[in-house]
Amino acid sequence: MGMATDFGIKIEGVSHAYGGGQGQLGTNTLALKQTDLLIRHHEFHALLGPSGCGKSTLLYLIGGFIPVQTGSISTQKGPVTAPGPDRSIVFQNFALFPWKTVLENVMYGLQKKGLPEVECRDIAQAHIKLVQLGGFEQAYPSQLSGGMQQRAAIARTLAVDPDILLMDEPFGALDAQTRRVMQEELRMIWKKRPKTVVFVTHDVHEAVFLADRISIMSARPGRIEHQIDTGLGPERDESTLTDRRFVELGEQIWRLVREQAVLASRGGL
Ligand SMILES: Nc1ncnc2c1ncn2[C@@H]1O[C@H](COP(=O)(O)OP(=O)(O)OP(=O)(O)O)[C@@H](O)[C@H]1O
Ligand SMILES: [Mg+2]
Repeated sequence: MGMATDFGIKIEGVSHAYGGGQGQLGTNTLALKQTDLLIRHHEFHALLGPSGCGKSTLLYLIGGFIPVQTGSISTQKGPVTAPGPDRSIVFQNFALFPWKTVLENVMYGLQKKGLPEVECRDIAQAHIKLVQLGGFEQAYPSQLSGGMQQRAAIARTLAVDPDILLMDEPFGALDAQTRRVMQEELRMIWKKRPKTVVFVTHDVHEAVFLADRISIMSARPGRIEHQIDTGLGPERDESTLTDRRFVELGEQIWRLVREQAVLASRGGL
């Protein structure tokens, strides 16, 4: 603790407008404006904000999927310039390979890591079970419901056990029941295998239940408007949901998010 490098992800003065390239601000809509955000090493961080404020853009930038135009993003491995094996993302539209089965999809990242075939299969199968898709190993994405595809995508990402896990509304297509189970599982996985998580959601209670720290983004062009420590402690379970602090935080954060959503609906600032 306290070391200069004791951060998971450091975002400094990042602006982003689509239509530009590396080191050059684009000419289209400004999505992010001078965004600063420090995420601690192995912190579970939730990101909230109105639709279109730049949450996905920020995740893509951290993932290295789109080039940083202005400002800088670094991890413990140094500045982010491209995708890397230390960072994995669950995309908002889950992006499975349609020509691969569930098992092949989940095995993919493990094979790329260079693990022996038998080990890839074992780890993949364990994660398929974890997301409750046991029995669907040989199914293709097109044969699954949206929620099942999303769970397969989550299994694929968790299986590679990255140091930085980026999740873009990963539970958005799940029914309430499955969603609750997945939230508890994710929190458990994170406790067992510590990692820095950035979790984008529109669900305030999901953010409070999962995160140690929550950022609320402004209406577009996005920047971090508020940061709140949940202070709920490491254990999260059914009883968390009735915890007084959980309920109060939910209301407080809901008000802050709503404020930004109202600004967004007025066309930003
Ligand atoms: N590929 C693109 N080309 C041009 N503009 C884009 C592109 N992707 C996103 N944008 C614009 O950038 C802004 C931020 O988009 P982004 O997808 O990051 O928002 P978001 O916060 O993830 O929204 P949501 O909550 O709806 O997923 C939006 O105004 C959007 O119109
Ligand atoms: Mg998005």
